[in-house]
Amino acid sequence: MDEPRPLGATAVSAAVPRRGKPMFPDGTGPAADPAGSHHERRIRSFQPRRSRVTASQGEALRRLWPTWGVDVDGLSRLDLDAFFGGLPVVLEIGFGMGEATAQMAAADPGTGILGCDVHTPGQGSLLGLAERNGLSNIRVANGDAIILLREMLAPASLAGLRVYFPDPWPKKRHHKRRLIQPEFVALATTRLAPGALVHCATDWEPYAEQMLEVLSAEPTLENLHDGYAPRPDFRPFTRFEGQGLDKGHVVHDLLFRRRG
Ligand SMILES: C[S@@+](CC[C@H](N)C(=O)[O-])C[C@H]1O[C@@H](n2cnc3c(N)ncnc32)[C@H](O)[C@@H]1O
Repeated sequence: MDEPRPLGATAVSAAVPRRGKPMFPDGTGPAADPAGSHHERRIRSFQPRRSRVTASQGEALRRLWPTWGVDVDGLSRLDLDAFFGGLPVVLEIGFGMGEATAQMAAADPGTGILGCDVHTPGQGSLLGLAERNGLSNIRVANGDAIILLREMLAPASLAGLRVYFPDPWPKKRHHKRRLIQPEFVALATTRLAPGALVHCATDWEPYAEQMLEVLSAEPTLENLHDGYAPRPDFRPFTRFEGQGLDKGHVVHDLLFRRRG
């Protein structure tokens, strides 16, 4: 695998990642903190939170995780062809509760969606939605997407990248936690096939400006629009988008393409 630039202020711990305990006593379910990423000496783009898993989310995790889930343990390369039966695969980072992910998967069954998030209730929610809607093109990765990209995905293996309403980290001292930064984009673009689409959206104006600046500065990407993109029809409204709109925020989409 080629060597992307190190990410984050302290770079990444060289220690062997620790596998977290699986959720269920029979060894199934997503592992807690699979790569020890909550403890890595690296600035994280997410807030580790303890959240209650409902009975139906837990049930979906117990039954569906063994076939549709993968822990981001940073230990092995993920065989996307085998995992998705040969479909082209788009990575969505931070799907939240997964409603928009499931809608996009239903609208485009010829594309596999690998949703990556650290939020266990959301993982259960998305798996449940996939099953209820008969969607066979969704898989769920549990853990930090940076470790997934860096350690587990092969160069040029992704047909696209989606980041919808990433945590805006509005306070100045937290800006370093924002996901869309030059080092992240440099890493992510190595995993994109030529022509792959990078689609970001945010309702936080200063973050939109940062996204535009960072994505425009990445030499392997070209902007499909002059500045921000008009909202594409294929992106459904997301839960966080709704909250932003309720507060009167303006939403910006950004659409870039990996150069050939
Ligand atoms: C503000 S929420 C947006 C959720 C959803 N896209 C929406 O619009 O409703 C951001 C999500 O990104 C996830 N997240 C943040 N950093 C991440 C990372 N490095 N790897 C995986 N998930 C991450 C968080 O756990 C959270 O669920």
